[in-house]
Amino acid sequence: MRKKLVVGNWKMNGSLARNAALLDGLATRGAVEGVDVVVCPPFPYLQQASEVCRGSSLGVGGQNLSVFKEGAYTGEVSASMLLDVGCAWVIVGHSERRSLFGETDDLVAAKVVAALDAGLSPILCVGETLAQRDAGQAEAVVCEQLRCVLQAVGVDRFVDVVVAYEPVWAIGTGRTATPEQAQAMHREVRTYLERSGVAGGKVRILYGGSVTASGAPQLFSAPDIDGALVGGASLVAESFLSICAAAAAH
Ligand code: 13P
Repeated sequence: MRKKLVVGNWKMNGSLARNAALLDGLATRGAVEGVDVVVCPPFPYLQQASEVCRGSSLGVGGQNLSVFKEGAYTGEVSASMLLDVGCAWVIVGHSERRSLFGETDDLVAAKVVAALDAGLSPILCVGETLAQRDAGQAEAVVCEQLRCVLQAVGVDRFVDVVVAYEPVWAIGTGRTATPEQAQAMHREVRTYLERSGVAGGKVRILYGGSVTASGAPQLFSAPDIDGALVGGASLVAESFLSICAAAAAH
């Protein structure tokens, strides 16, 4: 039985004052039974989030990490620094990092290895563009993204990776994949992992892309959708908590 996981990716949003209100709204509402809930603020606010979340059931994660351990790498943040400020999780290979900051499959794979080596739980983002979907390449693109990571991580350690399927065309567009489309890709991912020798039944696969409180229940009723990676809706305590509650109900 895979425990549901709901992760809020705040992206480059927030301020000390806005975060305080949001975190307080999340932390004081109590635990969501049967669901792991994680927030991923921008780097400067991780410490703030960790302090508020300490003693609550909320986990904290980074949105990115360096492949390097330490040293002369201006602007980079290492896995051990994330651990040091209270993170247990880290998002890796988000499509915005891939498309806007040139992260390749190989770099993403190296980052997943760096996270696992340090003891962080990586949330590996995969997903196709609209052009790739329209060309009938969606499954091939996602499987290739997984293959690169699998090769670097190995089948045994891959069970510690969380996969987030985020179709690029559904991110921030208001156009969610239908539960059928999402379920079909999640099934494909799990089958691919199993064919590759990973205990795919143990891997949590999240859906991300315009997840809202109203659409979440249908998504979570699909058998291979183990939670969500939420962008915009994670910036409002009410809607994020509703999504968490929907996960708890399934
Ligand atoms: P939205 O929920 O805003 O579409 O963002 C999804 C996402 O990219 C989460 O990582």
